[in-house]
Amino acid sequence: MAQAPTHVAVWDGLSSIYDRQLRLERRALEAALDLARPGVDDVLLDAGTGTGAVLRALAARGDRPRTAVGVDASKAMLAHVPRLPDGWWVRHAELEALPLEDATFDVALAAYLLHVLCPSTRAAALGELRRVLRPGGRLVTVTPVLPRRALSRPMWLALAGLARLAPRRLCGLRPLDPRPELLDAGFRLVRARTVRSGYYSLCVSARVPASP
Ligand SMILES: C[S@@+](CC[C@H](N)C(=O)[O-])C[C@H]1O[C@@H](n2cnc3c(N)ncnc32)[C@H](O)[C@@H]1O
Repeated sequence: MAQAPTHVAVWDGLSSIYDRQLRLERRALEAALDLARPGVDDVLLDAGTGTGAVLRALAARGDRPRTAVGVDASKAMLAHVPRLPDGWWVRHAELEALPLEDATFDVALAAYLLHVLCPSTRAAALGELRRVLRPGGRLVTVTPVLPRRALSRPMWLALAGLARLAPRRLCGLRPLDPRPELLDAGFRLVRARTVRSGYYSLCVSARVPASP
């Protein structure tokens, strides 16, 4: 049987315990959804949906979109996605080669995703997200960042150092400000918000230019 690529095997291995840390994501995911403002008629993509944390938070909202798709490369992570509302589904796929039509989504979320990808995969994934978003479409990213002044900064610096030593296994601890790469991929930056509760995180909203 063909083996899963290493980056997928890491997430397969974490899938059974992944949900234990979801409460640390909660505040940042709510902030990201507030920035994304998905409406009922918007078609939404959750890139790197994992066990469906973004979709779960969105499902709890009254004015959620009628159509939403979660994409992830790990079948084991997807197996933990709970039952979703009608019109929502998940798809097993690599973000750097999305099996989705051009300009089909109004809103995309990439929560705790970009920092786990290596730079070349990240560039390819951002290119794909831009391709599948409609002109004027919104992308909101969530990534861990180092606290500037908090007492916990030395601990996060130490964890970021560990992540450099074991980049695949500990990639989740790597801080990333994705704004330069979003600009490189052709997005326009709209807003950024730092969340200090749970994981210290940066939420960035960006837009595909409405006209070329
Ligand atoms: C840290 S988890 C985030 C999951 C979810 N968005 C959340 O906020 O809980 C990262 C996810 O990205 C997925 N992933 C990593 N590389 C990928 C790739 N190249 N294509 C698709 N999914 C990928 C992993 O399988 C994993 O489920």
